[in-house]
Amino acid sequence: MSIALVILAAGKGTRMNSDLPKVLHPVANAPMLIHALQAGQALAPERILVVAGHGFDAVQAAVAAHNPDAQVVLQEEQKGTAHAVDMCRDALADFDGDVIVLFGDTPFVSSETLEKMIAAKAENAVVVLGFEAADPGKYGRLIMQGDSLERIVEFADASEAERAVSFCNSGVMLADGKTLFDLIAAIETNNAQEEYYLTDVVGLARAHGLSVTAVACDEAETMGINSRAHLAQAEAIFQARARDTLLDLGVTLQQPETVMLSFDTVIGRDTVIEPNVYFGPDVTVESGTRIRAFSHLEGCHVSRGATVGPYARLRPGAELAEDTHIGNFVEIKNAQIGAGTKVNHLSYIGDATLGNGTNIGAGTITCNYDGVMKHRTTIGNRAFIGSNTMLVAPVTVGDEAMTGSGSVITKDVPEAALALARADQVNKPGVARKLFDLLKKKKQKLVSEAK
Ligand code: UD1
Ligand code: CA
Repeated sequence: MSIALVILAAGKGTRMNSDLPKVLHPVANAPMLIHALQAGQALAPERILVVAGHGFDAVQAAVAAHNPDAQVVLQEEQKGTAHAVDMCRDALADFDGDVIVLFGDTPFVSSETLEKMIAAKAENAVVVLGFEAADPGKYGRLIMQGDSLERIVEFADASEAERAVSFCNSGVMLADGKTLFDLIAAIETNNAQEEYYLTDVVGLARAHGLSVTAVACDEAETMGINSRAHLAQAEAIFQARARDTLLDLGVTLQQPETVMLSFDTVIGRDTVIEPNVYFGPDVTVESGTRIRAFSHLEGCHVSRGATVGPYARLRPGAELAEDTHIGNFVEIKNAQIGAGTKVNHLSYIGDATLGNGTNIGAGTITCNYDGVMKHRTTIGNRAFIGSNTMLVAPVTVGDEAMTGSGSVITKDVPEAALALARADQVNKPGVARKLFDLLKKKKQKLVSEAK
């Protein structure tokens, strides 16, 4: 059976108190909406539709960046969840299959749970995802009769007895597309919020003699984010799970709770992550590496056997080959660092290609930006860059070349050459002593005048 994925993401999220549409607030550096999208995509849907309204352009851009095949549909006015799904009616007119509805503000539904719903769909016209809530609060309540879901009642419309029910609606719903849109057409707004409730699909389906059931999942999966406090909780939940996953995969985290990961962080086994390391988006770290304390990585690739940090910063486009050493207070951006090459102290390497077995002295800077344009620095194999060398790009240093400490290199250095680009040293005999005596006398005079 083919599947169409519909994600509802048009709401404003007033309680976020933000200019950014709620569904774009990030969890682990990806908009919460993208987490829901990823879970749904695991089902290999034939169609993907996202219903957007508030911040339409921004939502559309975020979706396109993640999946250009997803279609973003406009819901101009937010008249309720059923109305939102109805916005996909035309786009799915020619679709023959099941429709699964997810909420963009509910990022943790797992694809395994969605698979369970698909299994239950074999014997039911409509399947709803429910959960036992520790604190049911304002969630919609699932009114069951044995295995049959009779109806869903929204908190605002529920009686005392119904509010006492703790089996709640997650918002995820699965139904045959034709059935779903037929039932939605019959939904009215005679309820406390005067909205078109998607939840009314259940009662209508039962009235037509269709079978409806609920699949239960863990409450942690159904958490809906409505406020910054929820967002912080969601981040904590994501981080805790992602750290546990890494530990299971054979990665050592010396102090797990201090390591921040992104939605797409990949780390190989037998890698050691010291405390207080931050992984931004798009980082891959191979097996057997060591990321030392207080390092910040994003958009980079670290190969087997490398060591990074403490206090290193790897920015987008940093590619470290095997056995590289990147030390303290070193920043690498858009640069390939060859195998076994060492950049150990206080350096900036940007827009550069470094060969294998090269040593970069402390305080070396690639001067990559002239105020208008960026330029590349190329350094060969087994070169030795003296401490505090300024490499004014564009510039090339050949294999096995050397630069003297403190040099400002503005011209290419040929293979095996030594480049010295600094003022010659002048020694003036006895002058230091005279200067010291003079300064001491001055100080004495000032002190006695002050008395
Ligand atoms: C909804 C459910 C409730 C369930 C809860 C779970 C309904 C009527 N109620 O309530 O049973 O327990 O979710 O979190 O479905 N949206 C639109 N367009 C609209 C309205 C909403 O796109 O016109 C989107 C929102 O952006 C959000 C999602 O649908 O992503 C849910 O809407 P929300 O208003 O938060 O529903 P709840 O009141 O939480
Ligand atoms: Ca909600």
